[in-house]
Amino acid sequence: MSQPTIESILHEDRIFEPAAEFSSSAHIASLQQYQQLYDKAKADPQAFWAELAATELHWFQTWDTVLDWQPPFAKWFVNGKINISYNCLDRHLTTWRRNKAALIWEGEPGDSRTLTYAQLHREVCQFANVLKQLGVEKGDRVGIYLPMIPEAAIAMLACARIGAVHSVVFGGFSAEALRDRLVDVQAKLVVTADGGWRKDAIVPLKEQVDKALANNSAPNVENVLVVRRTEQTIAMEPGRDHWWHDLQAGASADCPAEPMNSEDMLFVLYTSGSTGKPKGVVHTTGGYNLYTHITTKWIFDLKDTDVYWCTADVGWITGHSYIVYGPLSNGATSVMYEGAPRPSNPGCMWDVIERYGVNIFYTAPTAIRAFIKMGEHLPNARDLSSLRLLGTVGEPINPEAWMWYHRIIGKGRCPIVDTWWQTETGGIMITPLPGAVPTKPGSATLPFPGILAEIVDLEGNPVPTNEGGYLAVRHPWPGMMRTVYGDRDRFRRTYWEHIPPKDGQYLYFAGDGARCDQDGYFWVMGRVDDVINVAGHRLGTMEIESALVSHPSVAEAAVVGKPDDLKGEEIVAFVTLENKITASDDLKNELKKHVVQEIGAIARPGEIKFADALPKTRSGKIMRRLLRSLAAGEEISGDTSTLEDRSVLEKLREG
Ligand code: PRX
Repeated sequence: MSQPTIESILHEDRIFEPAAEFSSSAHIASLQQYQQLYDKAKADPQAFWAELAATELHWFQTWDTVLDWQPPFAKWFVNGKINISYNCLDRHLTTWRRNKAALIWEGEPGDSRTLTYAQLHREVCQFANVLKQLGVEKGDRVGIYLPMIPEAAIAMLACARIGAVHSVVFGGFSAEALRDRLVDVQAKLVVTADGGWRKDAIVPLKEQVDKALANNSAPNVENVLVVRRTEQTIAMEPGRDHWWHDLQAGASADCPAEPMNSEDMLFVLYTSGSTGKPKGVVHTTGGYNLYTHITTKWIFDLKDTDVYWCTADVGWITGHSYIVYGPLSNGATSVMYEGAPRPSNPGCMWDVIERYGVNIFYTAPTAIRAFIKMGEHLPNARDLSSLRLLGTVGEPINPEAWMWYHRIIGKGRCPIVDTWWQTETGGIMITPLPGAVPTKPGSATLPFPGILAEIVDLEGNPVPTNEGGYLAVRHPWPGMMRTVYGDRDRFRRTYWEHIPPKDGQYLYFAGDGARCDQDGYFWVMGRVDDVINVAGHRLGTMEIESALVSHPSVAEAAVVGKPDDLKGEEIVAFVTLENKITASDDLKNELKKHVVQEIGAIARPGEIKFADALPKTRSGKIMRRLLRSLAAGEEISGDTSTLEDRSVLEKLREG
């Protein structure tokens, strides 16, 4: 099976209309209704968002200005007072949802836990008091480095409740990557666990935290809270480390939600860009709450009777917006699963669907391709009849994978929402609304109402229908990131000045290539910068290169992505060695290990190629385009006249 190519997608003309049965009860029930909402939002975005904010959310105090837009800095619902933890919990307690399951959690070993809204509220209040007791105040940053356990959601909601800013770090990141993030965000406290389960092995999270904090290298961290999960012996540093259960047991369950300013910071989440260190994407409270709430409701056509399951990890934006905040703000039942398909239990995902009667299932194309490889006998042996809607996110989905998902998992009945968005956008931007928009396999279809998406060239001029260009967004939206943590200038440059503003009109540059077809459908092709997407994980080539050159044997490194059937892309690193160092397979393995240690297993290069020199322009820039072609085994095409030394290319080609 191959990745989508322009050719395969250009010839994709299958159209799937929403089933009448689905549409008849959908929140947005027809294309006409979608169009009306889209037009209304386009005509008066502020009125559109203000009406939704007033009807869908609880505010302690209403705003006085809907949008303050001083490009590229936006403030939404200015002077409004709101608390997202209140919207996710308290407001459901006075309704029948009080005793409805908020989280259904299952651990990899098969243990499980259900928390009703009342129970989750209680745990969150207690933990918020624990944080307060340890000196965490409004505006302080809290690092969260946890496996997929309910405590992750509890910790996030507890921070939000008292106005602390959470910064969740994916549990697969190494101690070094964790330390960089804790230092950048100046975290005062870290919440972790003794370990987490990953494919039948223990990920030693607390050990990584100890390494990250060793030698006072993250000096702001005063306390570490440790959830007991895997129960192996771990070191506890007196005075600094505390068991979650010890403090939680003694904490009061009375903790009113702090009325937050709409623009107060809610969280910082690090993501890779094309240059420099990962950047802290800042999201604030009111706009993010509204955007994740309404996108969850309309795109997943959420009903109170649904069991909804998003398979992401809470360490990524998808987990933030569509496991925790969006679903809980809607009073939904959200499934959280610690496990992943593994040799001892390859059919575990289908078991979870069958066991809990999951109605809505949201996963990544890379996972779907892995499911295909494992065989349809696995899903076919389970009862998946509860499913009514499927979703994908994270990378372009190849039409064959889309069709398999539709046929084998959705039994031809379930609409598929292919949702395009990013850490920076806060929530889904381009997607079908499942009861309204006909789908085409491989297309994310149409923009969400209120989102003015365009395909432009680098000057910001529109490109003709069906021609490739850059995906851009014209008007601010409530869920957009507000800045890069501690670096407003980087925010401005990276996202809003990449396409130079014209006549005071700013375009948000997403970093993706895409085209728009004759029906206005968007086809996202993938990143146009030096970001690679490996199994749905976003990695900057420069981060991996920095990790490689930090090894004493490496002189220079250039990293590119190579198309991969399963992972979408695979990392290929071209490496030149220091004088007197000899290339060997052992060294290749050592370098791979080194990258894992510096960043985490998600960044492990699939291939390392030693070279005498790297192809560079006369001004010394590495010509990645050539390396990409070499890695993919393609003929080198296009202009190579700027190449400084053509023999370098010949040698690389000879291998
Ligand atoms: O390249 C796009 C791809 O994932 C990038 C965003 O990555 P991240 O911030 O980690 O967020 C992932 C989850 C929202 C985008 O720039 N991407 C995401 N969804 C899609 C996609 N590419 C094509 N189709 C999608 N549905």
